[in-house]
Amino acid sequence: MNSADIREGFLRFFEGHDHLRLPSAPLLSPDRTLLFTAAGMVPLKQYYLGEVTPPSPRMTSDQKCIRTNDIERVGRTARHHTFFEMLGNFSIGDYFKDDAIAMALEFSTKVLGLPADRIWVTIYKEDLQTADIWQKVGIPRERIVPMGADDNFWTMGPVGPCGPCSELYIDRGVRHPGDEKQQMGDDGDRFLEYWNLVFTQFDRQSDGSLKPLARKNIDTGLGLERMTSIIEDTDTDFETDGFQPIIQTVADLSHQEYGRDPRVTARMKTIADHVRACTFLMAENLLPSNEKQGYVLRRLLRRSQALGRMIGIEGAFMGKVADTVIDLMKGPFPELLAEGERIKRDMAVEEQRFDHTLRDGLVEFTKAVEVVRQGGSDTLPGKTAFYLHDTMGFPVELTADLLRDAGIKLDREGFDALLNGQRHGGSESSGVEDVSRERTGYIKLRGTVGTSHFVGYESLSAEAVVTGVLKDGEPAGSAQVGDHIGLVLSSTSFYGEKGGQVGDTGIITTPGARFEVTDTKTPVEGLIIHEGVLVEGAIAAGDTARAEVDPERRKAIARAHTATHLLQAALRSIDPTVQQKGSKVMPDEFHFDFSFRGSLDADDRKAMEEKVMGFIMANVPVRTDVMPIEEARRTGALAFFGEKYGETVRVVAADGISKELCGGTHVTATGDIGFLHIRSIRSIGTDTKRIEASVGLGALREFWAYQEGVEQTAGILGCGPVPAEVMRAVQDLTDVVKEHDRRIEGLIAAATDRHVRDLIAQPATIKGQPVVVATFEDLTTEALRSAGDMAEQQLGNGVFIGMVAGGDGFSVVKVFGTAGATFSARAIFKTLTDKYGGKGGGNDRMCQGRIASLPTAEELEALLG
Ligand code: ALA
Repeated sequence: MNSADIREGFLRFFEGHDHLRLPSAPLLSPDRTLLFTAAGMVPLKQYYLGEVTPPSPRMTSDQKCIRTNDIERVGRTARHHTFFEMLGNFSIGDYFKDDAIAMALEFSTKVLGLPADRIWVTIYKEDLQTADIWQKVGIPRERIVPMGADDNFWTMGPVGPCGPCSELYIDRGVRHPGDEKQQMGDDGDRFLEYWNLVFTQFDRQSDGSLKPLARKNIDTGLGLERMTSIIEDTDTDFETDGFQPIIQTVADLSHQEYGRDPRVTARMKTIADHVRACTFLMAENLLPSNEKQGYVLRRLLRRSQALGRMIGIEGAFMGKVADTVIDLMKGPFPELLAEGERIKRDMAVEEQRFDHTLRDGLVEFTKAVEVVRQGGSDTLPGKTAFYLHDTMGFPVELTADLLRDAGIKLDREGFDALLNGQRHGGSESSGVEDVSRERTGYIKLRGTVGTSHFVGYESLSAEAVVTGVLKDGEPAGSAQVGDHIGLVLSSTSFYGEKGGQVGDTGIITTPGARFEVTDTKTPVEGLIIHEGVLVEGAIAAGDTARAEVDPERRKAIARAHTATHLLQAALRSIDPTVQQKGSKVMPDEFHFDFSFRGSLDADDRKAMEEKVMGFIMANVPVRTDVMPIEEARRTGALAFFGEKYGETVRVVAADGISKELCGGTHVTATGDIGFLHIRSIRSIGTDTKRIEASVGLGALREFWAYQEGVEQTAGILGCGPVPAEVMRAVQDLTDVVKEHDRRIEGLIAAATDRHVRDLIAQPATIKGQPVVVATFEDLTTEALRSAGDMAEQQLGNGVFIGMVAGGDGFSVVKVFGTAGATFSARAIFKTLTDKYGGKGGGNDRMCQGRIASLPTAEELEALLG
């Protein structure tokens, strides 16, 4: 007998006793007082209350149930589950205690084959009538145990149908050393409760009072997992046929053996339980979220993901476990198969969303645990848990769970105090200084809005849900038309700027709004923010959205990005030591920075262009493979600037040309790039060069600009619009200009000469020496010095004091011939600068420099006389 036999055997048995077999009701209970269907009778509540007439007074079902009150014990005990199947038989005003008891005993002994002398029962201590009934059907008084209301008064929730109950137990006998000492009611697993018979007589009111029901009813619950464990004689429910295939899948994924290491085994059980529960919940279209049922789902998924990571499972894995669950349980629950693909997809999305947070959080968590251990403590400070929660976005429940697993306590009070402080506007520091504040802010934001699943490698559009509306970088909940905001989506086709590649632009529409994306950023890994303006309507978190990337621009970016890989390959063919230092990839143009000693001239540039054009024209396929980093290294893929790569990487390869680790978007064949033109090569630092280039239509536009330049120049020159003619015309023009310059210089020299001679011809006489003092128009400094020489030639003896007019006062003082006995150029220069200001230097014969202004001949006579 296996679990399927028990399930079917139960339902058939009660059908044989005139019960109507009901299909399992959904887990997501329509009853607003409950989050989930937690017992077989929950969907039948209205019948119990007499509000609706049941299709039959006798019914039976295998009800899927979820209970969440003991989540943290799941996997650590033999029989706690979140999801489980409850087999039940129900009577609405039909049979009561006698028949319920008789049928339970009959099924136990006749169908399940349990030995009657090993069956024990409990009763509600005040319900002696039930004890008598049990005795009547053959259970001796010593195996009928009275219990208090805590154990034997069943309620479905805070309000609703309830009543005293009686439970059936099986004594499994001595299976382990010590079992012989166990008694009924002990914690151990020898006496195992397997069936609860509730005598539903009351309707509990919201004030706690018990209102008798008009009719007496029966509600029973037999846990399938537990009964299977009894029948298959396993230690825990997880070794039964209903769990082993799931456990095995988990074990295979982790490459570890179930049952070897107790901690690993417990984690395997938890994952098996949780993924099973999630598969069922998601089959009912529930999505992970931050409230109610969605929150429970998210918590289960995240716990599984964290535990999976901790037992060595890499990458998204829950879909694979779900596959086994579906396969195992599709018979009684065909909805699993129908929804299977969607369930797996949604799981992968959630795994992807939490991946970075989990990865970073686990690193921090492990460090924190190490610190606690090294400090000889057994408690993780609330402050650390708060840092994990607040900064890293790592849920405190997960911290608590993982701590339990590590045998360390959590200072929950300390954590709560910090959380309350924050809620009340306090500004508790997280105590970690080594993460830049901005980055911390984004990590926190990522924890709040989640990461986005990037589908942009495969598709330019995505269907998604708005998970964050950001105003000034803070979640704002909603936005109105005209607002400049950031949007975060559950999934997106928009590439957020990173790795040198600019962000995408495009349109995001929701049923009520239109948002123009002007840029997309990735401030921290996994967080993709669409920036732009809301041009129509209003938008709010939770809205469904359609994201559409501007396809032409994206193609242009892809052309440029693949071209950088080709250029790098070309550069490395010239010098294999070339290392990429950085890049900026834009639509149809890029900058590529690289290490290079020496110079690159026009011939090198042409050689590179030719090489890249060869790659382009070869039209080689560009392939992208995702693989573990180790494998990528083995294939010799290039990885640059010590970037931190995740464990799996994308390798972009153009066959026989280049192979690089790259997260960017690329063309599918090199021919798509069309054309490459290197605009410039220049030095941007020691041994570092930058190439600026254009590709595709960008190169074409650049070519147009050159051509138009040539044509317009030809128009001005009046020659044919081809470079050779333009060059000849410019050469001719340059020759003409040079000739004109020569002539003009001659004319100016002649005119100056005359002007200078005129000025020199009328010197003043001071101390018997001819003295020229004059401001000369239109002279260069050189010409002023020549004017001084001319004065010397003309006068033989005397003094020349000249200044260039209109400039900053360049002046020359020269003393020549016998005047040297009377005057010193240096003394004159000093006298003049002392009087008028200025600065200069020289010797007794000649001084030059700046004098602010020159005196008249009379003034000079007064100064020198
Ligand atoms: N409704 C009862 C239970 O859940 C049978 O135990």
